[in-house]
Amino acid sequence: MRRTVHFAVSPRLTALLGETYRQTEAALKELVDNAWDADAGNIWVTLPAPLTAEPIVVADDGSGMSPHEIESEYLDIARDRRSTKGEYSIHLKRRIKGRKGIGKFAGLAAARSMRIESVCKGIRTVVDVDKGAILNASHDLEQVPLPLTETEASNAVNGTVITLSNLDQALNFPSADKLRTLLIYEYGRESGIKIYVNGRVLDVEDLPGETESTSASLPNAGEVKIRFTIAEGKLPKHPGFLLRVGGKVVGRPQWFGLDKNQDIPDALRKRVYGEIEVDGLDQVVTADWGALVENSKAREEIAHLVAERTTTKLKSVFTREMNLQQARLKQEIARRLQNLPEHRRAFTETALGKILTRFYGERQDRIDTIASVILDAMERDEYWQVLRNIDEARHGDVANFAEALHQFGLVELTLMVERANGRLHFLSDLDALLVNPSTIEIQMHKAIEHSLWILGAPYHLMSSNATLKGVVERYTDKKYSGTRAAKRPDLLLNTDPGEAYLLIEFKRPTHPVSRADETQAQVYADELRELLPAKPIHVALIGGRRAAKSNPQNDPPNLKVWSYADIISRARHEVQWLLSNAAPSH
Ligand SMILES: Nc1ncnc2c1ncn2[C@@H]1O[C@H](COP(=O)(O)OP(=O)(O)OP(=O)(O)O)[C@@H](O)[C@H]1O
Ligand SMILES: [Mg+2]
Repeated sequence: MRRTVHFAVSPRLTALLGETYRQTEAALKELVDNAWDADAGNIWVTLPAPLTAEPIVVADDGSGMSPHEIESEYLDIARDRRSTKGEYSIHLKRRIKGRKGIGKFAGLAAARSMRIESVCKGIRTVVDVDKGAILNASHDLEQVPLPLTETEASNAVNGTVITLSNLDQALNFPSADKLRTLLIYEYGRESGIKIYVNGRVLDVEDLPGETESTSASLPNAGEVKIRFTIAEGKLPKHPGFLLRVGGKVVGRPQWFGLDKNQDIPDALRKRVYGEIEVDGLDQVVTADWGALVENSKAREEIAHLVAERTTTKLKSVFTREMNLQQARLKQEIARRLQNLPEHRRAFTETALGKILTRFYGERQDRIDTIASVILDAMERDEYWQVLRNIDEARHGDVANFAEALHQFGLVELTLMVERANGRLHFLSDLDALLVNPSTIEIQMHKAIEHSLWILGAPYHLMSSNATLKGVVERYTDKKYSGTRAAKRPDLLLNTDPGEAYLLIEFKRPTHPVSRADETQAQVYADELRELLPAKPIHVALIGGRRAAKSNPQNDPPNLKVWSYADIISRARHEVQWLLSNAAPSH
């Protein structure tokens, strides 16, 4: 039977159609979501081979739609199905994903024609939708004719096939890998559904990262296969190992003891996304298929295998990433360590290693802050007294020794917390200096000179440099003597962590930094450059604020203008973060 049907448009449509899909893959996920809502057990997505005119096909074996449902539900645009059909799917009680009633149009974001073919209870219905016609009708969607045919299909199984053809060449060609990644985050842990993209079912390997496969034959558990990916970038939603017995999912993902392993930092563990497949273990699965029986030998064997096969891999990823993270810091750390007496150096290195391990996975600028605080602490004498006491305890009786070792891990943290608190005090003092109207540049200069960490990333590890200080003093002494002495600028020269020097000019806190100040600072830099030709000189001006007319967008690339207040508040924020994360119980 042939007839013509029409869209039904709800008033919410205009707002909803404004939505766009950034990627074709995200649009295709809408069609997968629809199949999920229709209780499909299998979904097959077929993408065209590159540079062909083949269509995209999304097929499912879900409930399908009767001709009436197509007309009253599918074509009813912007209808919220949950308001009439509830939050859960009819047969499998899945939580419904559809909410806006426009997902169907996602297909048309990528293609010019869409065919809906659905079989339900022995009737096959086909509707064709043409994007051109819809666009032309922009405000009168109800008038667009949609040819519908209805045929008998008594032996066909229920399900829906969406075919998208005449793909939009301007859009990125849909990538199977991208689509898999998108789908694995959402559907990777669901039971009762298999999603195939170009014939291959979704798998832990589809999560970006390194994948490992391993298997063993165990006395009680039988054949066990473990596959896991250590995710890179976005974290998986449900990390851990999902257990399947004879293909059927048992409960939620679990750790099998990996969460008790002190050597694996939490930040790394949460990136583990794995599956364990076991055959013929039905008798040790609890009646509700929620878990393996707690004390079963099979469970113990599996946990043992997980520990054996995953820890080596995790530790090697950990070491590699730690090295990478510290590579950038190494040069700066080495420079600061050089200034320490020999016996402190080795200890400082170990302490840094321990602390940085503990903060593994943190952002780079935070790691820099931590390293800078530790180095700071190690440069101070009072901490060595604490450490010496611990060291002496080691040579005492066994109980003392054990106690000292126990504390050992906490010592570095305690030092760090103390130092961080010291920094907060310093920042309050600096604040007080800043608000005092009689403060002049030399006072700010003196206060900041030995606490250059206050400048934040990437200057965290910068320490004052006596040689450069000498160069600047000779330069200013010579140029600004006698009657010019009153004009003497407050300059500090240092080695930038990159391949440059950083020349800072301090202004008084009441002084707004103007373009004239910038030009003058650049003249100092030019003149100093003649004395230090080896590296370029970057310039920073620190003052009360920027003069109203000077727009930061017009700053030359190697010049920065900072305000004391901003510097202090950013530094305080960093230290506070450190304190809130460094509590020994963390
Ligand atoms: N593959 C399918 N199998 C069965 N019914 C479907 C299928 N795809 C769509 N439908 C029906 O058509 C309706 C409209 O789908 P559409 O994706 O436009 O909206 P939605 O899923 O309700 O909401 P959303 O816009 O949030 O996706 C669905 O609610 C569902 O009833
Ligand atoms: Mg939908």
